Amino acid sequence: MVRRIFFWEQREARRERRRAKQRAIIEEVRREGRDILESRNYRRTREHIQHGDMTVQRHTMDVARYSVFISQKLRISCDRQALIRGALLHDYFLYDWHDKEHVNIARLHGFRHPGIALKNAEQEYDLTDREKEIIEKHMWPLTVVPPMCREAWIVTAADKYCSLMETLHLHKRYKRNKE
Ligand SMILES: [Fe+2]
Ligand SMILES: [Fe+2]
Repeated sequence: MVRRIFFWEQREARRERRRAKQRAIIEEVRREGRDILESRNYRRTREHIQHGDMTVQRHTMDVARYSVFISQKLRISCDRQALIRGALLHDYFLYDWHDKEHVNIARLHGFRHPGIALKNAEQEYDLTDREKEIIEKHMWPLTVVPPMCREAWIVTAADKYCSLMETLHLHKRYKRNKE
């Protein structure tokens, strides 16, 4: 009985440590990306669907969180501010690629949207070279030229993981306007 209580306490302690790490990552994303998260255009992305019924806003926030998680887990030292801001803006194309009016864009969406996102982001923010690289290359190998910094590689990996989970409906789903 004592042994069972001991293991239960150990498991609870591990869960609490994991939750504390997740809270710290969310806090870091909010801190480094505050101006982006609070901007009107970024908030508009909750109206747009990414995969399944996951909104673009939720998708980019998840990619930012997973990017930080990957860099921590694999102990990859990097510019965390650029990592988070690049991840938040990597899909800043500001339209719903499923809408009929974008049907022509939708055909090439995979190829074109990194350039459109970069152009939109550059109009509103002073982006560093790393942040530009993250946005521009996140669809590699579609972009042909591979990412040239580790931050862009991390976001590219996190984006693919999140997209796969969303497509397979394995991520928690969020309806439009429900965030
Ligand atoms: Fe994308
Ligand atoms: Fe994405």
